[in-house]
Amino acid sequence: MNFQKNLQLKSFAEYKKAYQESIKDPETFWDSVADTFYWHKKWDKTLEWDFSTPEVKWFQGGKLNITENCLDRHLDTLGNKTAIIWEPNDPDEESRHITYRQLFVKVSHFANVLKNNGIKKGDRVCLYMPMIPELAIAMLACARIGAVHSIVFAGFSSTAIASRINDSNCKMLITANEVYRGTKKVNLKTICDEALQNTPSIETVIVYRRTVEPTPMTAGRDVFWFDELQKATKECPAEVMDAEDMLFILYTSGSTGKPKGMVHTTGGYMVGTTFTFQNVFQMDPDDIYWCTADIGWITGHSYIIYGPLAAGATTVMFEGVPSYPDYGRFWEICDKLNVTHFYTAPTAIRALAKQPLELVHQHNLTSLKVLGSVGEPINEEAWHWYNDNIGKSNCPIVDTWWQTETGGIMISPIAGITPTRPTFATLPLPGVQPILMDEKGNELELKAEKAEGRLAIKFPWPSMARTIYGNHERYKDVYFSAYPNKYFTGDGAYRDATGNYRITGRVDDVVIVSGHNLGTAPIENAINEHEAIVESAVVGFPHDIKGNALYAYVTLYNGISPNDTLTKEIKELVSKSIGAIAKPDKIQFVSGLPKTRSGKIMRRILRKIASKDVSNLGDTSTLLNPEIINKIISNSL
Ligand code: WTA
Repeated sequence: MNFQKNLQLKSFAEYKKAYQESIKDPETFWDSVADTFYWHKKWDKTLEWDFSTPEVKWFQGGKLNITENCLDRHLDTLGNKTAIIWEPNDPDEESRHITYRQLFVKVSHFANVLKNNGIKKGDRVCLYMPMIPELAIAMLACARIGAVHSIVFAGFSSTAIASRINDSNCKMLITANEVYRGTKKVNLKTICDEALQNTPSIETVIVYRRTVEPTPMTAGRDVFWFDELQKATKECPAEVMDAEDMLFILYTSGSTGKPKGMVHTTGGYMVGTTFTFQNVFQMDPDDIYWCTADIGWITGHSYIIYGPLAAGATTVMFEGVPSYPDYGRFWEICDKLNVTHFYTAPTAIRALAKQPLELVHQHNLTSLKVLGSVGEPINEEAWHWYNDNIGKSNCPIVDTWWQTETGGIMISPIAGITPTRPTFATLPLPGVQPILMDEKGNELELKAEKAEGRLAIKFPWPSMARTIYGNHERYKDVYFSAYPNKYFTGDGAYRDATGNYRITGRVDDVVIVSGHNLGTAPIENAINEHEAIVESAVVGFPHDIKGNALYAYVTLYNGISPNDTLTKEIKELVSKSIGAIAKPDKIQFVSGLPKTRSGKIMRRILRKIASKDVSNLGDTSTLLNPEIINKIISNSL
């Protein structure tokens, strides 16, 4: 049986019918989806939920292993089909094509390496790796034996790795010695070694050699990937997991405090990601799908690895960057690999749209059928550029709205089946019940008129995160306390008279910079560590390419004057504590920050100043220090 198309809705009418059924009787709807997978034992109860505690359980009592659904079940029919095509950073290095059977063998083999190194079901394993097939192999190997992977994006700093490792007490770290990014080579192992000075729970480090450079190894702790493979057998039966057993932890930024380790479990996540993958992208069996995200983010987890592999698709992994060797690289790869489905972020589209069109026209792009967008709102101009120049007005654009927390796509067109509309994520997928809330916390009913408010979801869906690792109270606070019995997304949205949603952006202190979610609080904490700095406030402001960039307002101790060294040191502190992605574009030294009488920084005003939108700052008379505002405006950058 070919698993590729068995869940696909085939017409707008079918979508409407499925949507209605999924709302009227969610359990029957999801039962029929879940029935198409391989389970060792069928579930006893489809759904149990209570958003007040909050507790959500899908497919309780069901027994399965997600890797058997991504690999084993395809072997008879798709064993020789390419599962992963890997495209290296250097266009002169050969691509790698890995079939389903080869991937199955590699995953099983490496799963035994994990076992030989003491990893058991439930243990947490941190992965800090470049975009190479071994990252996919390592994550699937964890899932094979029931270990929980916690992937840290390989652009984060050593401090950021250490805090994530410590938060979930990872026992093992898997990394590579170096990574290529464009013309740069980054030594990941050195960054790990720094992190490892403060991570007592790590017992073993497995190092994949991506380059031939000598790699410093710590005896008794560090081992090489290849050496370990030599010692391991190749067959590894899959650990039988409960549907609600943890599959992975993935950290995402919050508006306050440390990053939140979102916990995803096995059964619901598999069912949700596969169903949405099949429907949104509508692939045919010989299609080639390429999502340009990094596997270190949720998009890579759900739509480079688990969704596509469970669906039996061919998925592309790209090691490099869009600008190397030139800004035509994405289009060159599309032609070279005959990519039919191309899924990227608005920030990449904007950066590429700024380049001479020749870089697009040098490539024919005739293989493309469907284009996707994810990670932030796509602006009208970028949408049209993408549609006209890449899709040649011939490829539906699926603008997919979702989050690390939702696990899978929630609101999106279904390619070729439901209508698209520039800048709109359009309609909810089956099983998803979005609502808009007004400022008073009342639901804005879906009447025949447009509405704008805060986006919440009123019914559980299978791939939702179940908790924040080690902090269920915080999970409740952040997502379930704004509106009783509803999941709050943190996003604002607009809805037109026909029920199409357009996401307007974050309404909390999370800023999406180049598609990366960044909480402003941890950036402020990093800046405040500087001994010359009293306090700081970080806000986002619109940026042509990045979507948003960061603007830091900083106050200094008396007697210290602003200077370039300070600016440099602030950026270094942020890089060290979080990563280069979080460095502010602008740093303004101010004599004070606008504050309420209770001492709270009025970030709303600072956001407006940073956005050069000072005509209407609202009522500032209630501020403790209203006089500061004009000073900040006159010196703004
Ligand atoms: C934003 C990425 C508008 C949104 C999958 C959300 C979007 C946050 C879209 C989650 C979209 C994602 N249109 N905004 N199509 N997709 N977002 O956790 O603000 O990295 O809350 O997950 O990205 O980012 P995350």
